[in-house]
Amino acid sequence: MSSVAVLGCMWGDEAKAKIVDYLGEDADYVVRFQGGSNAGHTIVVDGKKHVFHTIPSGIMYPQTQCLIGCGVVIDPFSIIDEIEALRISGVEINNRLVIDERAGIVLPIHTEMDRQAESRLKSAKIGTTGRGIGPAYADLTARSGIRMLDLKFPTYLKKRIRELYAYHNLELSREEMEQLIAKLKAAWQILKPFVKAVEPILHEARQRDEQILFEGAQGTLLDRSWGSYPYVTSSSTIVDAIGIGSGFSARHLDKVIGVYKSYCTRVGEGPFPTELFGDLANRIRIQGNEFGATTGRPRRIGYFDAILAAYSARLNALDSIALTLLDVLSGIPELKLCVAYRINGKLLTQVPSHHLLLAKAEPVYLSFDGWDEDISNIRKLEDLPVNAQIYLQAIEDTIELPIEIVSVGKERNQTFRIPQGGTP
Ligand code: IMO
Ligand code: MG
Repeated sequence: MSSVAVLGCMWGDEAKAKIVDYLGEDADYVVRFQGGSNAGHTIVVDGKKHVFHTIPSGIMYPQTQCLIGCGVVIDPFSIIDEIEALRISGVEINNRLVIDERAGIVLPIHTEMDRQAESRLKSAKIGTTGRGIGPAYADLTARSGIRMLDLKFPTYLKKRIRELYAYHNLELSREEMEQLIAKLKAAWQILKPFVKAVEPILHEARQRDEQILFEGAQGTLLDRSWGSYPYVTSSSTIVDAIGIGSGFSARHLDKVIGVYKSYCTRVGEGPFPTELFGDLANRIRIQGNEFGATTGRPRRIGYFDAILAAYSARLNALDSIALTLLDVLSGIPELKLCVAYRINGKLLTQVPSHHLLLAKAEPVYLSFDGWDEDISNIRKLEDLPVNAQIYLQAIEDTIELPIEIVSVGKERNQTFRIPQGGTP
């Protein structure tokens, strides 16, 4: 397999980075193609936790090239912090990190607009990560955005920033402009060696049949078009975003793996049909450490929603599933899978297009007996408790796809493959 996409298939935080890290050992390239520092990608290597926001999770493998495609929006100051943190931990990044010349830039004005919109629009609050992602993508679409290579041309950059402020009917004093330009010039000096065109690199890698791993951020249910709009992020998160955001057409992918948690979580506002409250939600939240890696917010918890799961499997043309955090479910007496919705008295197995309807959905569940055993040391499907095997089988049957990878803990080695699972 030379090109593989690893995509979040629910509301983000599916442990995509853990799967990228698990598959990444042989990868020549790990590529981010959408999102920005709203992502919080956590990997644990030898007990040490590393959280990445914009830098691809492959950076911990010394031979892997990490590419950030043009579909990513980059906060220059935040990526410099990530670069510095890696240098401090002794990770060599020179000649290993590439930021696309066409990538959009998140400026302080975007972060400010994001925060203001969230505090002003109380009734329409999205619960964003506050990283300026929506306003930055909006400016790029409106053609008032700033892109990476603009930093190379300070006079042009100044003109573009002036136009950007004018577009938003905002004033920037001469002194504020000088300060911003000086900060961006300093950032450019640090970032310059990493800024290149990503598309030709991927094209050549494909010609040489090198191993390329695409690392999705967020998840299908947060996709700007396919998620529960407006409670979504501002990028396309589905498989087709790979071509748009990296220049490597999704048509060339050899395999697409969808990452699902063994239950559901969501951060921020928006409908969540299988949401749980009370003791069970608290138990899963604590057991699964379900607190945001970017904002620290407690995540909302719910039963596995097979209707939404099958929907995202279709949208991404998945070949197989990576199922994560199965160990968190140990000790829960009864597990449930949502296999239909009842909306206004009607039974549905499709996802309604409007969030007001999805919010009305009453889940119809299949129930399963749980298991008590600690499964974090298990490395084979046959060694899982029978009830866990039945639960996995039910997920495969409802999504109609094989589970190829199972994760039973945070560590790289707490992962196993199911032979034949997912081999297209
Ligand atoms: P990873 O890559 C989970 C959510 C926010 C909010 C909505 C919009 O770690 O899975 P934004 O800041 O993007 O404008 O916020 O999207 N959100 C995420 N939820 N994981 C993420 O990333 C997320 N990135 C954004 O909570 O509901
Ligand atoms: Mg995350």
